[in-house]
Amino acid sequence: MTAASTAKTVSPVPLNKNELSSEINELRKKHNAVILAHYYQDPEIQDIADFVGDSLELSRKASNTNADVIVFCGVHFMAETAKILSPEKIVLLPDLDAGCTLADDCPAEAFANFRANHPNHLVVSYINCTAAVKAQSDLVCTSSNAVDLVNKLPKDRPIIFAPDKNLGRWVQRQSGRELTFWPGSCLVHEAFSEEALLKLKIKHPFAEVIAHPECIESLLDLADFIGSTSKLLKYTETSPVKEFIVLTEPGIIHQMQQRMPKKKFIDVPGIDGCSCNECPYMRLNTLEKLWECLKKMEPEIVMDDELRKKALVPMKRMLEMSK
Ligand code: 13P
Ligand code: SF4
Repeated sequence: MTAASTAKTVSPVPLNKNELSSEINELRKKHNAVILAHYYQDPEIQDIADFVGDSLELSRKASNTNADVIVFCGVHFMAETAKILSPEKIVLLPDLDAGCTLADDCPAEAFANFRANHPNHLVVSYINCTAAVKAQSDLVCTSSNAVDLVNKLPKDRPIIFAPDKNLGRWVQRQSGRELTFWPGSCLVHEAFSEEALLKLKIKHPFAEVIAHPECIESLLDLADFIGSTSKLLKYTETSPVKEFIVLTEPGIIHQMQQRMPKKKFIDVPGIDGCSCNECPYMRLNTLEKLWECLKKMEPEIVMDDELRKKALVPMKRMLEMSK
């Protein structure tokens, strides 16, 4: 095929957001696709999604949808989780490089060795891990149900909590259960500047500090409320307070501002004033890549079925235990 004839087969990228949005709408109808988006996605992706939620809500949606195609606007472990729960569906991720430091820092083989050193322990894995780590776990949890689930485990069994040591420490404090941690962490939630937070507290003396439990302990100690993204959102809706300093990825502020236009939400910069409070992986997805993936029906999440079935066991347990 000549270069000229190849060029004819490739349709041009629509030039503006409106054109992109209307093509996305047509393609989603054509393929009977549902667009799921995490709160950390760009506002324009959140606005076009059929459903926006936290990890637990998105897992529930992925397991219940009647759509033939799930376009997961989030990171790889989230799209993989959707495939684990809905193997008969086509699951697309707009950018396959959208990873997560927590999943990357817990390789399956090293984790198997860690487990072998703790043979009597139950294994609870935060959903931010690969299918290969889920497959080695007794139970999966998210930041919204971790404390409740750990509280339900038999008191006479020691517990490994992986891969987020910061979330693990918070769960340990809330549940009073001694946990053995895998030493992983989220680069975004570890990057918030304590100095910037203290300055913001002085500048906004009536603001409440709300934090995701992936933050380090010294920052959590400064928070008025700690919870998953959906719990932070609910808290800001019910609190009579009008100003909030938000210690999590600022994508969530789009939902807060839309639901509560009269309240003020302030994000916290990273150390040295960098904008590393934005998750570099989540933000790899763009409206254009969303359009492109619906047009080409790729990149698709493909999984080994044996691994999928093993990873499904602790996922199903989580969904049943957190009904
Ligand atoms: P949620 O469980 O609040 O959705 O958090 C997911 C996540 O990746 C936080 O960094
Ligand atoms: Fe992973 Fe952190 Fe990004 Fe969440 S914010 S997806 S934990 S790197």
